[in-house]
Amino acid sequence: MNHQYDTVRPVNWHNEQLHLLDQRKLPHEQTIMMLEQVADVTKAIKDMVVRGAPAIGITAAYGVVLAARTAYAKSNTNWQTLIEKDLQQLARARPTAVNLVWALKQMQVKFSAINGDPVPILLEEAKRIHQEDINANYRMGELGTELLPNNCRVLTHCNAGALATGGYGTALGVIRSGYAAGKITEVYADETRPWLQGSRLTAWELLQDNIPVTLSVEGAAASLMQRKMIDWVIVGSDRITANGDVANKIGTYGLAILARQHGVKFMVVAPTSTVDMSLTDGSKVEIENRATEEVLTLDGKNIAAIGAKAWNPAFDITPAGLVDFIVTEKGVVKPQSSGMDALGL
Ligand code: MRU
Repeated sequence: MNHQYDTVRPVNWHNEQLHLLDQRKLPHEQTIMMLEQVADVTKAIKDMVVRGAPAIGITAAYGVVLAARTAYAKSNTNWQTLIEKDLQQLARARPTAVNLVWALKQMQVKFSAINGDPVPILLEEAKRIHQEDINANYRMGELGTELLPNNCRVLTHCNAGALATGGYGTALGVIRSGYAAGKITEVYADETRPWLQGSRLTAWELLQDNIPVTLSVEGAAASLMQRKMIDWVIVGSDRITANGDVANKIGTYGLAILARQHGVKFMVVAPTSTVDMSLTDGSKVEIENRATEEVLTLDGKNIAAIGAKAWNPAFDITPAGLVDFIVTEKGVVKPQSSGMDALGL
């Protein structure tokens, strides 16, 4: 199927290397990092060269291919033992998005079938995970668009777009599909302090596809809703627990409270690789705390009073009761009534 508004790809396997679009440099520079060693992949995930739950998982899957290639060159009988430490370090690169460990488990399932050079089988699996994520995003785009009324004005948070996935995006996949169907008339994006995923990444990727976007600071969201300028909030997720609680970029919880107060609908869009049925509820999710410099500085320059401390959790938990719909590639769930059980995962 041809999809409109679908040009951005953050992760590519090319010439036997992993190519990552360096998201730290967007929107001003489009630089590709070419990686051949798994330690560099782990570092790229930690440093946010690549970020966004599904994109991290896909990158880790290709990281396993690189680890196995190096280890097999050293020992064609003992490569699985040699890469154990690499995989543990990859798994710990960022703790909140469950897609990372999900992808590593998918790759490890293939280990037992390998006899000889592991690279062909592992590369095929990584490419399958990558393509399935893009397909899931297309499907969620359709399902999410069906929920939207005509002339819809939407607000999104962080970047849950092509840049955060294999391509097309989760929340931005629905926004792409809804815009293509003529149902979405306005897209607002929070700038998303402190890393500015909204102003640097969401705005950039929507404009790459000629979808108009208006940026606002997070503090403006309440006024946007009070003035009846928003009909739906559409966001992604890093981990959804069995009861339907949603971990996503810090600030998402506040938006959900505002949406409920103002009668605005709240949609979460995430593939089933983001659903963690092993955790009962959001209080069990490990929330990543990032460096205080992200809050205290901008572009390497101090912006805060010298001596001020900072608190910088990267994610928060939105309770299931505040979420109207969770859109997955396997169907749409109303989490407040059934949690995630309805998907039968
Ligand atoms: O810290 P980030 O930029 O990795 O956080 C990303 C988000 O919170 C996204 O909303 C989430 O991963 C969903 S991406 C489709």
